[in-house]
Amino acid sequence: MLERYGHGGDLKTAEEAFGLAAERFVDFSSNMNPLGPPPSVSKTLQAYADVIGQYPDPAVRGLRRNLAEKHRIDEQSIVIGNGAAELIDLTVRALQPKLTVLAVPCFDEYGDAVRKIGGAVHEIRLNAENGFLLDPGGEQLEELAQSGALFMLGSPNNPTGRLVDPGLVRFLLDNGASVVVDEAFMDFVPEEPEFSLIQEAAQHERLFVIRSMTKFYSIPGIRLGYIVGMPRSLSGLRRLQVPWSVNSLAQLIGEAVLEESDFARLTLEWLERERPWLAGRLESLGFEAVPSSANYLLARIPREAGISASMLQLEMGKRGVLIRDASRFPGLDHTYIRVAVKLRMQNERLVQTLADVLASWRKRER
Ligand SMILES: Cc1ncc(COP(=O)(O)O)c(C=O)c1O
Repeated sequence: MLERYGHGGDLKTAEEAFGLAAERFVDFSSNMNPLGPPPSVSKTLQAYADVIGQYPDPAVRGLRRNLAEKHRIDEQSIVIGNGAAELIDLTVRALQPKLTVLAVPCFDEYGDAVRKIGGAVHEIRLNAENGFLLDPGGEQLEELAQSGALFMLGSPNNPTGRLVDPGLVRFLLDNGASVVVDEAFMDFVPEEPEFSLIQEAAQHERLFVIRSMTKFYSIPGIRLGYIVGMPRSLSGLRRLQVPWSVNSLAQLIGEAVLEESDFARLTLEWLERERPWLAGRLESLGFEAVPSSANYLLARIPREAGISASMLQLEMGKRGVLIRDASRFPGLDHTYIRVAVKLRMQNERLVQTLADVLASWRKRER
């Protein structure tokens, strides 16, 4: 079970489970940009290694200034964190919601953060028939919003890759809800200006947008994310944050990668080519791929294959290919896997290995 600690990308667990060295795996279980990290990351590490001899800027001023410029918002509307994960946790601790609404399947950390503070979770089930979209007319959304609940929504959502309609978020806010939109993967979306709620979050006291810099720039080891909200809505969260939570190198790397406009353009071009290619290949093997706006695909294993997601993960892992067993997400059953979109050669290996496993499973079943 690769998700022993709750997430994909755990190469240590993969080493232990499959007896291969970490570098022998092709990892489709976590969703990093395969073009990254961009060149400025290693340049910054080399040029600024000495900064670890000083305390980091506790207010992360340089990076906040650059992000404020990029998003055309006030610097005071941004708090930087040690990854989006820290900010999810801090937001929930600061808001202390009595009731939190989650549209499942979604990222585990939303529910975990709420349960840690003893809050109640109301799960709305997204379903395949509805394309895993939140139905504005369904499930007493209006009533839940009017009760003052906190909604935590991923856009694009993990693991489905579906975007949230900004109109729906406005509807929830208008009815009294607080809303956290997790835009960890929004940098991968060419229609970002239409779908991102960052600018609105800087002006609405009950709306927060969380962004991660670890996925798009492939720097999960450095830990970097930020939250946008109205300055007075962020003050509680700021008070709870551990001082110097964002280390000096992370701050400098964040500033450097924001300058990488070619990298950003090439990433969008790669994804536009590669995601439909991979989805098409998966479908030709009989998988049903959910239409995704992100750099990963949720896919349903062909029924006739007769193999569960956990067995498929195991068989793939033995062959050096790591995939996510998506049945571990609340709201999904054992027929779902999630795979990252990677470079063509790696994607070919994924498709070939899936085909091999399905073929050998069929033989075994006979
Ligand atoms: C939807 C979502 N939000 C947030 C995070 C956390 O990102 P970070 O690495 O910036 O903490 C993840 C990581 O997988 C994620 O999938």
